[in-house]
Amino acid sequence: MPKKTIEDIQVKHKRVLLRVDFNVPLNVTTGVIGDDSRIRASIPTIRYLVDHEAKVILCSHLGRPGGKAIENLRMTSVAQRLSRLTGLPVSTVSDCIGREVERKVGMLKEGEILVLENLRFHSEEEANDAGFARELASLADIYVNDAFGTAHRAHASTVGVAKYLPAVAGFLMKRELDVMGKLLDDPERPSACLIGGAKVGDKIELLQNMLGKVDMLLVGGGMAATFLKTQGYEVGHSLIEDDKVGLAKELLHEAKEWKVPFLLPIDAVVTEEIKAGASTRVVATTGIPSASHIVDIGPQSVELFCSEMAKCRTIIWNGPMGIYEIPEFARGTRSIASFLATLNATTVIGGGSSAEVVQEMGLTDKMTHVSTGGGASLRFLEGVALPGVEVLLDKE
Ligand code: 3PG
Repeated sequence: MPKKTIEDIQVKHKRVLLRVDFNVPLNVTTGVIGDDSRIRASIPTIRYLVDHEAKVILCSHLGRPGGKAIENLRMTSVAQRLSRLTGLPVSTVSDCIGREVERKVGMLKEGEILVLENLRFHSEEEANDAGFARELASLADIYVNDAFGTAHRAHASTVGVAKYLPAVAGFLMKRELDVMGKLLDDPERPSACLIGGAKVGDKIELLQNMLGKVDMLLVGGGMAATFLKTQGYEVGHSLIEDDKVGLAKELLHEAKEWKVPFLLPIDAVVTEEIKAGASTRVVATTGIPSASHIVDIGPQSVELFCSEMAKCRTIIWNGPMGIYEIPEFARGTRSIASFLATLNATTVIGGGSSAEVVQEMGLTDKMTHVSTGGGASLRFLEGVALPGVEVLLDKE
C-alpha cells in the first residue's frame, strides 16, 4: 500500500518534525564531512516544506554515540553543510528535547529551519522509549520521515513518534520506496541482480528473495568463495563460511530447478597478502593456488558479468566484487560500476559500499537510482517490512 506523503497533508503554518538520515561520513577529529549525498538527497523535501511555509524541525542521528553526548558527533557541521547547500539559514540547538529546544521551536517562524542535536545522545532513542518519543512529538504538529537509510531501525524518532503525530513520507522516502518496490514487484524484464560482499551469511536472505524475483543472479566478492567451494573448487585461504555451505548448495540447486542462471566468477585476482601494494595475479577459479586469497573478480569474469547484464532491462547491484578499499583489489568493482553507468537500462545501486564506489567515481547521475540506505535497502530487497515505513499513513 503506498504511503501518504507531504503532498497529501497541509503543512502551511505547521510545525513539522522532519526525520532525516544525516548520518554522513565524518572525520571525527577535524569535523569535516566526507560524502554529503544523504544531506543533498533530503533537500527537495526541506525546500518543499520551506516553500510551503512550514516551521521545519530537522532531526537525525549521527554515528553511534551510544546514549552519551560526544562533542565530535554534534550536528553543527551537518547543519552548516545544509545551510551551504541550500543557501538557507539553518539554526541549531544543543539538545533534541527539553526546555531550550521547546523555546527555540516556539520562536521558529514559517520557512525557518532548526536542526535538533544528535538523537542518539539519548539512549532512549534507540530503545524506542515512549516518553522520549512523546517529548519529540510534542515539538511538532506533523511528522515527516525522509530517513529511508534508518527505516529498518525501530527507534523513537522513526517509529515511536508516529503514534502521536500524523506521519507521512518525504520525497526521498517516496522515491526509495517507489524505485525499490518496482524492482521487487514489477521490474522491466529481463532483470538481473548482482550481489557481492564479504560473506554469504550477510546476503543469504537477499539471495533467497531475489532468486524468486529476477531472471539472473550473479555473485562476486568474497562470498563467491563459499559458492565455488560447494562446487568442488579449491579456494586457497579465502574465507569459507562452513556453516553456510549447505545453504549455498541449496541456493544453487533451487536456481537450477527454477532455471534462473546463477553466475559465479570464472577467474579471480589472488594474493598471498591482503595489504596495499601486495603483488597479485589473475587465475582461473578452477585453479586457485593453495597459499592465496581471492581478493577480486578477474577480467574474464568482469567481461562475462557485463555481457550478461547487457542483455537485461533492469539491474540491481548490491555489494563490492572484491576488497575494493585496497586499490590493487578494486578493479573488478570499479569496472562493474563504470559498465553499469553506460547502460540504457534501469540500474539501481542498493546502497552501502557499492553506492560509495559509484559516488566516489562520480557516476551517481549515470544510474537510475543510488539508494541512500545501506542496511535499509538490504532489508527492503530481502523483502522485509521496514518498521519506519510501516508506521506511515497509508494513502486511502
Ligand atoms: C546507516 O548509515 O545505515 C543508517 O544511518 C543507520 O545507522 P545505524 O546502522 O548506526 O543504525
